[in-house]
Amino acid sequence: MTRRLAADADGIAEAAALLAAGELVAFPTETVYGLGADATLPRAVARIFDAKGRPHFNPLIVHVPEAEAAWLQVAPTDLARALAEAFWPGPLTLVLERRITSRVALLAGAGLDTLAVRVPAHPVALALLRATGTPIVAPSANRSGQVSPTCAEHVLDGLDGRIAAVIDGGACAVGVESTVLDLTGSMPVLLRPGGVATEALVAVAGPISRAIPHAVAEAARTLRSPGLMVSHYAPTLPVRLDAVAVAADEALLAFGPPLPGAGATFQLSLARDLPEAAARLFEGLRTLDATGLRRIAAMPIPPEGLGEAIGDRLARAAAPR
Ligand code: TXA
Ligand code: MG
Repeated sequence: MTRRLAADADGIAEAAALLAAGELVAFPTETVYGLGADATLPRAVARIFDAKGRPHFNPLIVHVPEAEAAWLQVAPTDLARALAEAFWPGPLTLVLERRITSRVALLAGAGLDTLAVRVPAHPVALALLRATGTPIVAPSANRSGQVSPTCAEHVLDGLDGRIAAVIDGGACAVGVESTVLDLTGSMPVLLRPGGVATEALVAVAGPISRAIPHAVAEAARTLRSPGLMVSHYAPTLPVRLDAVAVAADEALLAFGPPLPGAGATFQLSLARDLPEAAARLFEGLRTLDATGLRRIAAMPIPPEGLGEAIGDRLARAAAPR
């Protein structure tokens, strides 16, 4: 029922026509596959929540092909312009004051007076955004609470028959979602670590407040950004973090030379390369989940660079459900 479109001119034109007709189309970005809808069509935006089975109306990220298109929807601060200059196109999402002239459906922003905007660094995503000529909202193209998709096959695993089409653009290079930064207060607030490392953000933005003490900050973060619930990105199997030994009935998510004795092993990066590990993370969780072993044991990942986003996703996968 869900059509698989080629990532060529014909496929993109077809996808743009479906979006204009209010249909949902999944498409590749550099982070994960997004489930797109025309942001200006309230019924299309509402269908996203239905297709994903999203429990609340979490606000969605508005995708545009360049910064100037973003500034039509939100009012940029000087810092927003500097960050856009440094990181767009790329895996950074900025939360800013919504303009009263914005045509983005209110549901897309979950009724907040802010909107999240980003310019994805993927040729297919950019071509699609240019072809539609309208802002596109796109959460990750997975059923709510499940692992984000990093290839077209993952999208179909969760959403086949529930969406009109998916553009098959191969595997996503970054593999974890964008970094979400709230610029509406006096100091930037990191709402979600992601594809842009916090160190790189700080180099441009200066001090950033980080809601790090996890349990304490979680309630506040959930209110501020409802998509950031603790148990998110959850595979079916339980997940054990920071494994330094592994049992035969466990599936090992390895980072570097694997611990011996696991029932199955998925290697994130033998060379302990964090970008490589980020790109393979969600595929690894899916693959190990499918082994049907008792539990996934994840080896420790250093919390620097993209390791922060990887650790955040693993902590969510391991959270009590
Ligand atoms: O990499 C990504 O960001 C992917 C690709 C498809 O672009 N998209 C994605 O969307 O991860 P989603 O819906 O899974 O996550 C969006 C996050 C949620 O945690 C949501 O709560 C937060 O951004 N968010 C969106 N609008 C917001 C707003 N106005 N204020 C605060 N947080 C917001
Ligand atoms: Mg998501």
